Amino acid sequence: MSTSFANRLNGSILLISSMFFGLAHGVAPKALIDDGGMVASRSALATEVGAQILADGGNAIDAAVATGFALAVTYPSAGNLGGGGFMVIHLADGTVIANDHRERAPGAASKDMFLDEEGQLVKGLSTASHLAVGVPGTVAGLLDVLARYGRLDRKRVMQPAIDLAAKGFVLDRDLAAQFARRQDVFAKHPASVAVFTNEGAPYRMGELFVQTDLANTLRRIQKHGKAGFYEGETADLLVAEMQRGGGLISHQDLLGYQSSWREPIRGTYRGHEIVSMPPPSSGGILLVQMLNMLEPYDIASMGYGSAQSIHLMIEAERRAYADRAEHLGDADFYPVPIKELISKEYATKRFANFDAKRASISADIGAGEIPAESLETTHASVMDKDGNAVAYTTTLNLSYGAKMVVAGAGFLLNNEMDDFSAKENSPNAFGLIGRKANAIEPGKRMLSSMTPTIVRKDGKPLLVTGSPGGSTIITTTLQVVMNVIDHGMSLSDAVSSPRFHHQWQPDRVMHETYAFSPDTQALLESMGHKQLIAIPAFYGGGIGDANSVMHIDQGFQGMADPRNAGAAMGPGRAQRSAQ
Ligand code: GLY
Repeated sequence: MSTSFANRLNGSILLISSMFFGLAHGVAPKALIDDGGMVASRSALATEVGAQILADGGNAIDAAVATGFALAVTYPSAGNLGGGGFMVIHLADGTVIANDHRERAPGAASKDMFLDEEGQLVKGLSTASHLAVGVPGTVAGLLDVLARYGRLDRKRVMQPAIDLAAKGFVLDRDLAAQFARRQDVFAKHPASVAVFTNEGAPYRMGELFVQTDLANTLRRIQKHGKAGFYEGETADLLVAEMQRGGGLISHQDLLGYQSSWREPIRGTYRGHEIVSMPPPSSGGILLVQMLNMLEPYDIASMGYGSAQSIHLMIEAERRAYADRAEHLGDADFYPVPIKELISKEYATKRFANFDAKRASISADIGAGEIPAESLETTHASVMDKDGNAVAYTTTLNLSYGAKMVVAGAGFLLNNEMDDFSAKENSPNAFGLIGRKANAIEPGKRMLSSMTPTIVRKDGKPLLVTGSPGGSTIITTTLQVVMNVIDHGMSLSDAVSSPRFHHQWQPDRVMHETYAFSPDTQALLESMGHKQLIAIPAFYGGGIGDANSVMHIDQGFQGMADPRNAGAAMGPGRAQRSAQ
């Protein structure tokens, strides 16, 4: 675990410990149910925006886009205009498609831009400087998705976000505390101080939070579409911000940004179809690869939380993350062996050295041979009554990105350049290492772990899920999927149950406190698993934040991850709250 990731976890643990509640399996909060569709996201206000769009006749795509714009206002640590994201879409006719609006390296970026003259990484340059910022993609992506698949117009879909920014909303404890504990980092940027303090004093719960500059930026986008962000006043303000701090993004970079339509990664697992995000995310490939390795084993009989099933999952994670470091990057720039990595044959070979009694040693697990040829992000899930479904994950990278608001434009910039491999085999903020496949190149997209995922049964969406959490995104998504498919859990148990994570390097297992019972832990240690690090899972802490939606016989179930302050809501409830 990198220092910043560890600090972040420890910080949440210390600051919110008074709000502890247990997440032991079997005592999960209830999922909501509605027969008209469902939205689940990290922000109750953004969820309500999406649910109201469904109530007003919008489809899941309209609702996801409206929720996305609202998250940029109501959940600024990860919701964004200045970052990027991925959307995996299932249409009622069975089509699946993914929109990639990941940030790109500016045209003036170069492979060694974060190294000093001795070739060493310069601390903080890829996370806390103007050079850390990738060319933002969120606005292009959300508007492209809306134009192609939405039912409502831009004016309707963006208006709730504009209202929330212009009229403000009352800060809850969650957001007020987030702003307060970042006063020091915001202090370096006057425009960030202007937004995230109340005239220099920390905001308090119950105060009104108005974002006038952000409202005006959103209005320009609402009026001019993508040109309202990538051209004109917003672009001028962003480029001026870059020039003030020695950043690289130019008008040409902004004009040249386009979201990309991609074929989702598709795999199968015990009679279900897994539809997830392709490169530049590693999420979909690793998810399918791990499920392929696990499928031959009877996980259900082993039981949730058994040492045997945890051992299997850790060993699958170890091998998949080793492959990530070697083979994964932006497939537009590097020949990622996608077909091979997600094939069942490759999984069989890759897992052939699995020992049911002994942990492998990460140093011995190199990348598999291919036959020739933060922690801060946020996830929203949506289904509508017509059979459309959207899995949407978006990010500024670390919490509040570069902590830098564009002066006059009111939105935060990402620090996504840290997701590149700035130096071979040197860990990024999530402890992930990478090599040539993910080296910096102008215009390239940095490798992501975001794993927006739709699980289909008989061609219909069963589960929409995904998570924030940097490197832990993929294993969180894996566990939610396995909880539903292998263990037959209800959505609320699947999302609430304790989680663990292994990522090959460093060779250690992070686990939520109740994930391993003492005898399970002893068994894992006796097999050779090292460094089992417990992370208390309580409100504001733990691993992941998997706001998910599932279709069951009785309707659409929504479950906001109880580790955080999100909410699920269907159009039925939204209609009632609007009356
Ligand atoms: N910035 C985190 C990710 O994309 O994986």
